[in-house]
Amino acid sequence: MKNNQKVHLALQLETDLKEKLNALFQVTEENPDASKSEILSAIADVEGILGFPNLSMDADFFDAAPNLRVLSLASVGYDFVDVDAATKRGIVICNTPGVLTNAVANLTISMIFIITRKLIENETFVRTGGWARGKPAPALGTDIEGKVLGLIGFGRIGQEVARRAQALGMKTLWYDVFDTLPDGAPNSDYRKLDNLLEESDFVSLHTNLSPSARHLIGEVQLDKMKETAYLINTARGPLVDQSSLTKALKSGTIAGAALDVFESEPTAENEPITQLTNAYCFAHIASGTEETRRAMRELALQNLIAVLSGNHPPAPVNPEVFK
Ligand code: DGY
Repeated sequence: MKNNQKVHLALQLETDLKEKLNALFQVTEENPDASKSEILSAIADVEGILGFPNLSMDADFFDAAPNLRVLSLASVGYDFVDVDAATKRGIVICNTPGVLTNAVANLTISMIFIITRKLIENETFVRTGGWARGKPAPALGTDIEGKVLGLIGFGRIGQEVARRAQALGMKTLWYDVFDTLPDGAPNSDYRKLDNLLEESDFVSLHTNLSPSARHLIGEVQLDKMKETAYLINTARGPLVDQSSLTKALKSGTIAGAALDVFESEPTAENEPITQLTNAYCFAHIASGTEETRRAMRELALQNLIAVLSGNHPPAPVNPEVFK
C-alpha cells in the first residue's frame, strides 16, 4: 500500500519495477538535465534515493537531504559516495554485490581471448577487405593453457575469474589485502603484489577503489611486469595511473592492456590510450548484459524497500548504521 514516504528516482527502471516503486512511495524522477540546485531541492524532503543522482555524493549532498534514510545504488562500486559522511548521519548506503559477478568474470576471460587470439585484429582484417585482397593476415595468436593469470583482488569476482581460468588450463595467482585463502575460494597461490606482477602473463584487477588503492598500478609496478605481459582492468579506472600505463604501452614496457574502465569516463575523444593499437578499450560494459543490469536494478529496489519498511536490506555497505 502506498504511504507518504518520498523517494527520489535517479535511474532508468523497467516498467514493472517502476510500477512497484510507484505503488509503494511518492516518487519524483530526476530529470537528466537537472541543475545542481534543482537536484538538491528535489532531495530536500526525501527518505530514499534510488540510483545515481548527478552530483557528488558527499557531506554537503547528505546535508541537503535531512530526512534521507537510504541511498540505494544500482552498482557494486560505491567509491563515488562519501560513506563515512552517510554513516555519521545514520543513512544506509546499499549496493548490488553478487548479481554481476558472472558477467564481470566473463568479460575478463573474454579479454584474455581478445588479446591472445587477436580477435579484434582479425575482425578488422576481414571487415576492411584485407582478407579479400590477399593482404598479410594478422600474426597468429597464442594459447592460454599454462599461462599465469595474476589476480589483484580475490573477492567474489576475482575468485570467479580464477575458476574460469583454471578450467581453461591457466595457472592463477592472487594478491589481496588479506593473505589467507578465503573460504570456498578456488585453490590458488598467494603472492605479494611485486611477485605477482613479476610472474604473471596477465594481470587482472578485481579490487575496490578505496583511497589507498588509487594508482595501485603505476610506473613502478608496470616496470615489474614482464615485457610480454598484459594488464586487464574491469574494476575501476583510477586503480591504474593511466598516463604511466599509456607510456608503458608506447615504450613496450608491457605488451598491452585490455581496459573496460578509465580514470575519467566517458573517455575524451582521442584520449591517448584509446588510440593505441595495443590497448583494447571498452565502454564500461563489464556488468552490461540485459539480465545482469536488470538483476542489479531489482536488488537496488529490494534494498530501498527493505530500509524504508524498517527491515535489514540484503546488501548494505555500512551495516553499522543499524547498531
Ligand atoms: C559496478 O557495479 O560498480 C559496475 O562498475 C557497474 O557496471
